[in-house]
Amino acid sequence: MEFINLNIEGKNASLTINKEKSLNALNKKVLEEIDHAIETAANEEVRVLFIEGAGEKAFVAGADISEMVNLKSAEAKKFAELGHKVFSKLESAKFVTIARVDGFALGGGFELALACDVVYATEKSKFGLPEVGLGLIPGFGGTQRLSRSVGIHTAKAITLSGDMVDAQFLHAKGVVYKVCKDLEEMNKETLSYAKRIETKGPAAVSTAKMAIQKGFGLKVSEALILEQQEFALLFGTKEATEGMKAFTEKRKAEF
Ligand code: CAA
Repeated sequence: MEFINLNIEGKNASLTINKEKSLNALNKKVLEEIDHAIETAANEEVRVLFIEGAGEKAFVAGADISEMVNLKSAEAKKFAELGHKVFSKLESAKFVTIARVDGFALGGGFELALACDVVYATEKSKFGLPEVGLGLIPGFGGTQRLSRSVGIHTAKAITLSGDMVDAQFLHAKGVVYKVCKDLEEMNKETLSYAKRIETKGPAAVSTAKMAIQKGFGLKVSEALILEQQEFALLFGTKEATEGMKAFTEKRKAEF
């Protein structure tokens, strides 16, 4: 892969977008490589995937404007479809995805973070959807995922102005799970978070992710049926037997 490094270490992996010269901007090739890396991580039965951008300046500064400038409508639709496909794959993956945002997360970069399960960010990070300044709208899910995450008024305030907001603001809005002093602290915190996940039942974690993600788009009554079904199914697994037995025997569960 030319622009993506996938580094698998035991049950964790980090996917680094390595295109520092253009602040890790997402073009077609980068998206295809991310897609490939997601498949590889899934095949290797990774449990947590960290997503990060190379360099000190940006997580991802958006879709690659130098590539988009030549697109016609039909090609732009394909580009948006590719972005949607790849980001939706992150949401439906069995593993947990953690965005490590250190620097700019703009346009497609903010949209990538919004498609991750958990978002960590350093104090210096800045988020925004600057597309209206380019005469465009967000095309990798930003018009839909941001409002679902922060509410319709904050989503409009950010999107219509192209304003940048900081990590603390998005922490208060519930997007950023934890704001860290710097990259070193964020790497430590995210690793420790991943280790906590590793001690939990693998099927339980994946099923909880799926139930939350799928249920979010359903009516509450339908989502609760989904929950009942998935809750019940886990009772047929070895890990639930072990998890509950370990509790009653006052020992740590071994998954
Ligand atoms: N696409 C292509 N190249 C980009 C880029 C992008 N999104 N963002 C930055 N770059 C390139 C710059 O052109 C520059 O390249 P050169 O050195 O060859 O000139 C290099 O990265 C460094 O950038 P700057 O010199 O601009 O750095 P800065 O510190 O002055 O500014 C910035 C940083 C505020 C992030 C600024 O680069 C910027 O505004 N970038 C564009 C942000 C943007 O508009 N993102 C949305 C893209 S559209 C989108 O994402 C659509 C979608 O939803 C699918």
